[in-house]
Amino acid sequence: MTQQTTPTEDNPGRVDYAPLPAINPELVGRTVVITGAGRGMGALFLEELARRGVNGVGGDLDAAAMAATADEINTRLSGVAGAGRVVGVGADVTDPAASEALVATALREFGRLDLWVNNAGVFPQAEFTDISPEQLALTYGVNVNGVVYGGQAAARHFRTVDGGAIVNMASVAAVRARPTRASYNSSKAAVKHLTTCMAVELGPDNIRVNSIAPGYIDTEMTRWVRDDQAAMNRALSTVPLRRIGAPMEVFGALYFLLSDSARYITGANIPVDGGSQHV
Ligand SMILES: NC(=O)c1ccc[n+]([C@@H]2O[C@H](COP(=O)([O-])OP(=O)(O)OC[C@H]3O[C@@H](n4cnc5c(N)ncnc54)[C@H](O)[C@@H]3O)[C@@H](O)[C@H]2O)c1
Repeated sequence: MTQQTTPTEDNPGRVDYAPLPAINPELVGRTVVITGAGRGMGALFLEELARRGVNGVGGDLDAAAMAATADEINTRLSGVAGAGRVVGVGADVTDPAASEALVATALREFGRLDLWVNNAGVFPQAEFTDISPEQLALTYGVNVNGVVYGGQAAARHFRTVDGGAIVNMASVAAVRARPTRASYNSSKAAVKHLTTCMAVELGPDNIRVNSIAPGYIDTEMTRWVRDDQAAMNRALSTVPLRRIGAPMEVFGALYFLLSDSARYITGANIPVDGGSQHV
């Protein structure tokens, strides 16, 4: 991972890649499932949790990328004392059976499942009048239905073990309206509200459900912003901190929400967006 921290021509968004020092010892030995972990934020979450002793199952539509990512993580962490192990499997979150299979994989590989991250997402754009039934079905199928199915599978298991923690990946898009973003932004609004609905219903079973709302984070999903200076300038003009974010900076919020430090927090949505939801 790049450890770049200063503005350079290569780093026009001035992303701060510095690692985070925090450690939550109670998470050591627990197991997480992360969807959409073949690349991007999900892959970083899987690695950084494993670095801190959490075993992980990553599921991704792209089974080959997921397997390669899991191999790379295990290789990189092989010399890290106390690190967890990760397993990567193909999983399409639009299929409820895939989430049930992720639970089964976690129990088979690690004997327990404590934490679940509904991270898989797609970001198609189109003018409102051009949104096709296929695009709508894909966006809602992955971003919304996938969160429901993942949450159901996780909650059914967590009920049998006296609780657990779920984090859903929403977005600053949940509270914003932008041309060409109607399907994505409305899907993320659904994720944010689903999070509170899940929290209210699952709270009595000691299952906490929170969401994170990233702004512009440096991943393949936002590569087009990095590749287009005008788009980058437009994006940065709506970010009070005047830089885009790094996946590691989103991990900070995720790690907190999954940990016992957040044991009385449920139904919350944490923006990690450099302040952009206010602009
Ligand atoms: N990057 C950002 O700026 C940003 C901002 C706000 C929210 N988010 C959200 O954060 C999450 C992660 O985003 P990212 O930037 O890492 O994206 P990414 O595109 O880099 O990675 C998304 C991953 O999800 C996988 N995926 C897609 N459809 C799937 C399916 N049906 N089943 C399982 N996996 C599937 C992809 O194969 C990919 O590996 C998404 O939910 C995204 O909407 C991203």
